[in-house]
Amino acid sequence: MQKKELVYEGKAKKVFRTGNPDYYWVEYKDDATAFNGLKKGTIANKGELNNRISAYFFRMLAENGIDSHFVEEKSDREMVVKALQIIPVEVVVRNIAAGSLAKRLGLEEGTILPHTVVEYYYKSDELGDPMINDDHIRALSLATPEQMARIREIALKVNDVLRSHLAERELDLIDFKLEFGLHKGELLLGDEISPDTCRFWDKNTREKLDKDRFRRDLGNVEEAYREVYRRLTGR
Ligand code: TMP
Ligand code: ASP
Repeated sequence: MQKKELVYEGKAKKVFRTGNPDYYWVEYKDDATAFNGLKKGTIANKGELNNRISAYFFRMLAENGIDSHFVEEKSDREMVVKALQIIPVEVVVRNIAAGSLAKRLGLEEGTILPHTVVEYYYKSDELGDPMINDDHIRALSLATPEQMARIREIALKVNDVLRSHLAERELDLIDFKLEFGLHKGELLLGDEISPDTCRFWDKNTREKLDKDRFRRDLGNVEEAYREVYRRLTGR
């Protein structure tokens, strides 16, 4: 497979054609944004680390029966994925209150949620990704009720698998965001799973090992991403 022309450039990744319409070539960038692009910067080696971490998670999920768009790694910062018709709904799963949930509901960050919370956001940069519910998703024809039921089921299973895998590595999975899409009619997990799209806290010190270090100017951002990679792979 070959890397052909650029088809799309997002905030953290570039997507290229491959010559085969069923596959895309994805390049992970070091660029980082937050607050819907208001804050911009770069995190050294982030592209490489997020590509490696995402590939690791997608492989691990596949071993646990959860299929994704991931096909294979092509280089330190590149992977080939199946072409998806993206469902424009971001799915957030939360185990512990943090970020926007802590703010919206007036909970202290770190409060354990006695019940897992699943939220949906409409993927729209112009609107700033507003939170939506199942009725909004139906009213806007973003996905069918059957697709949403399956998406919720997969998201909760991803949570179970990731959470126990990370716990063995002394990491707490606070929350994370998933995206889904259709490949030849099949619903698959898409996008990435990395410290850009998850919150990971050290189990013992509660140190943040994710993009909140960039969002909140906490320093040692690259070191945090590298530490997640090290805990997962030993490298
Ligand atoms: P939030 O607390 O800011 O709503 O974020 C919840 C989770 O979703 C957190 O793990 C970070 C992730 N996330 C993204 O991947 N992309 C985004 O644009 C936002 C706002 C959050
Ligand atoms: N990636 C999102 C953005 O730039 C937000 C975030 O991750 O905080 O806008």
